[in-house]
Amino acid sequence: MELTLPDLQEKLKSWDGCALSKNANPVLGEGNHNADVLFIGEAPGKKEDELGRPFVGSAGKFLDELIESMGWKRSDVYISNVVKYRPPDNRDPTPEEKAECMPWLMLEIAIIKPKVIVPLGRHSLGHFFDKLSISDAHGHPQPLTDDVTIFPIYHPAAAMHNGGLRQALHDDFAQLKIFLDSQGIAPPTE
Ligand code: URA
Repeated sequence: MELTLPDLQEKLKSWDGCALSKNANPVLGEGNHNADVLFIGEAPGKKEDELGRPFVGSAGKFLDELIESMGWKRSDVYISNVVKYRPPDNRDPTPEEKAECMPWLMLEIAIIKPKVIVPLGRHSLGHFFDKLSISDAHGHPQPLTDDVTIFPIYHPAAAMHNGGLRQALHDDFAQLKIFLDSQGIAPPTE
């Protein structure tokens, strides 16, 4: 039987393969099951932990605004994280935590089969291309396979600490829209 996203959601609830799960709630990705575009952040923050949903705090509001700047909606894409539990005090996830949680992201990717994967920030980019720096690669499509392109973008939370990055994020989303249009990728119809 084929594994579905609701199956993953259910299985993640009883998983204890990452020590973070002792003190935090599971946060799987969410969004359109037919999405061609998958956004991947770092790890849930406070609001995400409370609500059990990815990108619902201030970085999430900015991400929604950026998606809408392309004429798309949040419900047209799928949004997830590398790490499925909030690290204490929002510290960076460790390499172990990222590796432990990675099978969940791999399963999400296998189910959704996106054409474009957008790593938000260096933790997520590092999974796909560990030698690329986000400051060099952001806004530039990086072919991964014949069917999948990685399109790195700064993490939206970075703009909260560094106002100058706000414009860079808007520019990157404009480039992303140009790229999607060039590939004939439009919001899903269902
Ligand atoms: N930052 C992330 O990387 N992920 C979230 O879900 C929220 C904030």
